[in-house]
Amino acid sequence: MLRDVRRARLPVGAGRGPWGLRGLRGLRGLRGLRGLAQLVCLACACRAEPGPSGTPEPTAVAGGAGGVAEPRRAPDVLYVPTPEVVVDRMLELARVGPTDVVYDLGCGDGRIVIRAAQRHGARALGVEIDPALVAQARRNVAAAGVEGLVRIEQRDIFELDLSPASVVALYLLPELNVRLLPQLERLKPGSRIVSHDFDIAGVVPLQELALRPDPAGPRHDIYLFETPLRRTP
Ligand SMILES: C[S@@+](CC[C@H](N)C(=O)[O-])C[C@H]1O[C@@H](n2cnc3c(N)ncnc32)[C@H](O)[C@@H]1O
Repeated sequence: MLRDVRRARLPVGAGRGPWGLRGLRGLRGLRGLRGLAQLVCLACACRAEPGPSGTPEPTAVAGGAGGVAEPRRAPDVLYVPTPEVVVDRMLELARVGPTDVVYDLGCGDGRIVIRAAQRHGARALGVEIDPALVAQARRNVAAAGVEGLVRIEQRDIFELDLSPASVVALYLLPELNVRLLPQLERLKPGSRIVSHDFDIAGVVPLQELALRPDPAGPRHDIYLFETPLRRTP
């Protein structure tokens, strides 16, 4: 679906969350995600709300220990949630299990990390820059009863040490995936990277999967990579 936004072809029925594409259909004239991301940032300052106190393993980063800080900068991509059925396929493809530590870079409402804990028993970290989504994700984690396994941090994904992760989930943009490469390349050998809709230019995927959960809806592509990453010749 992000792919479609990039082409300024906003699909019908995409996005159910606060920044789903539904509310952005009127912006067909805007080309590219960057213009949309600016709108998201302006709006997220208005939507900021205090988060719940106390998430496991506090960190020294503002917004990381359960507080919700003002956004330091605009999100690099707008929020479009991954449909639940695609989330499940992503986690299956990445062979997520109880020994895994799953990171979702730009976690939105937390659905991927919550599912990783609920269905696969994994520990998980959701990282999100938008304070309202951080608060929403923390509420969802609490509602799902997985606070013992899942932590949500308000952070910039480009300032994140990925070394504790064994699985990294992405639903970003092609250029952001490439920007993350220096961080992704430092993952432990045997770590999996699973990306919704976009591959990583210059890297050979281990597996690719296309699914169309709604026959009338868009196609979803899933790309699986494993470290050490194999560069295209
Ligand atoms: C397309 S959404 C994906 C949400 C979720 N991963 C999913 O698949 O349902 C991308 C998310 O990345 C967040 N984001 C954008 N730039 C970010 C950054 N630099 N650091 C952290 N989060 C960011 C956005 O706010 C948005 O929620």
